[in-house]
Amino acid sequence: MSDSFDVVVIGGGPGGYNAAIRAGQLGLKSACIDKRGTFGGTCLNIGCIPSKALLYTSELYEEAREKLPKLGIRTSAELDLSGMMAHKTKVVGELTKGVEFLLKKNKSEAIVGEARIAAAGKVDVKLKDGGACTLETKHIVIATGSDVAPLPGVTIDEERIVSSTGALALKSVPKRLLVVGAGYIGLELGSVWRRLGSEVTVVEFLDRITPGIDGEIGKAFQRILTKQGFSFQLSTKVVGVEKAKTGLKVTVEPAAGGDKSVIETDIMLVAIGRVPYTAGLGLETVGVALDKRGRVVTDNHYRTNIAGIYAIGDCREGPMLAHKAEDEAVAVAEIIAGKAGHVNYDAIPSVVYTFPEVATVGKTEEELKAAGVAYKIGKFPFTANARAKTIAATDGLVKIIADAATDKVLGCHIVGPEAGNLIAEVVLAIEFGAASEDIARTCHAHPTLTEAVRQAAMGVEGWTMQM
Ligand code: FAD
Ligand code: NAI
Repeated sequence: MSDSFDVVVIGGGPGGYNAAIRAGQLGLKSACIDKRGTFGGTCLNIGCIPSKALLYTSELYEEAREKLPKLGIRTSAELDLSGMMAHKTKVVGELTKGVEFLLKKNKSEAIVGEARIAAAGKVDVKLKDGGACTLETKHIVIATGSDVAPLPGVTIDEERIVSSTGALALKSVPKRLLVVGAGYIGLELGSVWRRLGSEVTVVEFLDRITPGIDGEIGKAFQRILTKQGFSFQLSTKVVGVEKAKTGLKVTVEPAAGGDKSVIETDIMLVAIGRVPYTAGLGLETVGVALDKRGRVVTDNHYRTNIAGIYAIGDCREGPMLAHKAEDEAVAVAEIIAGKAGHVNYDAIPSVVYTFPEVATVGKTEEELKAAGVAYKIGKFPFTANARAKTIAATDGLVKIIADAATDKVLGCHIVGPEAGNLIAEVVLAIEFGAASEDIARTCHAHPTLTEAVRQAAMGVEGWTMQM
């Protein structure tokens, strides 16, 4: 193993491994260090990928039982939970190995061990298989990601009181699942277990689900989930959990205070957000500044206050999303290589992979109102989309928001089938500074779900044709 590099990246998640790969492509000598034992970070090991594997298989299971009979297909689907988990594990294994392959292909050294920054230009590594080394490097990129946000007074045991990690590996389907937090994780993993047979109750502190997502879309999403069997207790907080012999007694009270009540459940999933993870990195010693929320402070070139040390991904500000980390990875490697790396934060999509999916990019109506920006809206419901009818998936709508004066697309919010794929054309539109009319006048194949996006764009100027 070499001990002198141009770039040493700490963390092998979507931020870290992509930074190391891009650095390698640009001719920089790079290393990527991760202590986990497998590369891919939270995303590949305990996040995006295992959750999407279970979302896919649980959706098929529910379809086989609930939907196919309505479409003229008789089935007798039976759950094989260990088979489902085996699929998840196989996919994770293949993809994490794939990252190692990509690092090697791009001449980046993959090091398994725990890194600590000794000083600018110097990284100490405690190697996983024993031993230690010190790497000299011109640049250090911190890409150490995030960890589960704790719920005060509640200890996660990953058996009965679980974080997303435990909820991805339950050994049997709980009869009752209590989810704390109606965000991405709560609704995705709540969906998995509801489809497999759990009664799912979601306790949310705020008076709405998926805060941050356009309010109208959030309301439509909640209606759809409620129809599916989710039960929501909004404006409610958990104030205590008692472990009974066979289950949990969870005490809740109104967020604003008031009478307490008890919810009995078998498993409780704590999904109230994630916090930046920089423990053990030695940042205090080196003097790298953190903000009040523990995030590494950087300028818009990802430079910390210490020359030669950068940070990207979940451990710095911005949405905690794999593709945001990946884009910052490309940008930081390009900046280090003397190029003009840049991320357009107005064009970062986010997707909740439930059924139907929720996908959003750009500004919400609430944000534009608060900023005093004049806007126009076009909407189109999937009930009026021919393809949605043919696949019997008509819940939801597309909402496009454009600047009232220039018609420039400012945001798009979708709840509906394939929303995560549909949003891509609007992300591109925003990236190119397109107007809603550009989408409305672009030919979209028939019959596709993409026509719903076009019809919503037509709606901005009031000429939706299929409704
Ligand atoms: P991470 O992926 O967290 O990687 C950081 C790595 O750094 C870790 O592997 C850790 O072991 C390593 N590390 C930390 N400290 C050290 C050290 N001192 N030395 C060596 N190594 C160290 N995002 C999406 O965009 N789409 C999704 O569908 C999605 N689903 C998710 C589902 C779940 C259940 C969860 C929990 C998250 C999900 N996310 C999703 C979020 C996504 O996983 C993160 O945004 C993404 O992984 C952040 O990438 P990162 O590289 O910044 O950090
Ligand atoms: P989240 O931020 O999406 O949602 C947390 C929810 O918990 C919010 O609605 C919040 O109001 C609520 N909450 C906070 N404190 C609470 C309390 N004490 N009691 C009750 N409710 C409380 O966080 P989540 O779901 O934990 O996910 C963490 C992050 O991981 C996400 O923000 C996202 O960045 C990423 N992620 C992305 C996914 C995707 O892209 N599809 C999937 C899963 C995670």
